[in-house]
Amino acid sequence: MSYSIEQDVDQILISEEEIAKRVKEMGEQITRDYEGKPLILVGILKGANIFMADLARTVRGKVQLDFMVASSYGNGAVSSGQLKIVKDLPGDLTGKHILLVEDIIDTGLTLSKLQSYLLERGASSVKLCTFLDKPDHRKTVVDVDYVGFKVPDEFIIGYGIDYAEFYRNLPYIASLKREIYQ
Ligand code: IMP
Ligand code: MG
Repeated sequence: MSYSIEQDVDQILISEEEIAKRVKEMGEQITRDYEGKPLILVGILKGANIFMADLARTVRGKVQLDFMVASSYGNGAVSSGQLKIVKDLPGDLTGKHILLVEDIIDTGLTLSKLQSYLLERGASSVKLCTFLDKPDHRKTVVDVDYVGFKVPDEFIIGYGIDYAEFYRNLPYIASLKREIYQ
């Protein structure tokens, strides 16, 4: 029998329909909160790519899109706490309002470090938006302004989120079968 990524899915946690509904609500809230303020939506690649594309199209008002790439040093499975910025935002950020858009927050280290870094560069505000929140492993206190859904402490895949670079193309959020990653 031919391989299909669906066979590696343990459980579908959030359907395509639920995703679309929630993303629209988040976009409407962001539109209200930034009324009259130009906003830069900054997606953290690669994971936030698909969420960012959907979210951006639900936000009204003056919006620019940009992206950052960050990677943590050390072995891939565990966040080492050291963050390397591989692709940065260009130009002067003085007076800019930035909303960082992330796929999933786990330890919180990535978002909190990027937030402090962009504030140091002179941005007027740096708020945080994550599609998924896995709250069980926080290593730092981080105040996330927009959360799509809370998810259990499982290995999550789909809607841009990968395991070993695969499964980003699943249109829903799922948990990965344990035998795949253990
Ligand atoms: P942290 O909040 O600094 O630990 O980093 C969050 C990043 O870890 C996310 O952007 C993902 O790239 C990755 N990550 C955390 N949990 C998962 C998961 O369940 N599946 C896939 N990637 C994850
Ligand atoms: Mg990521």
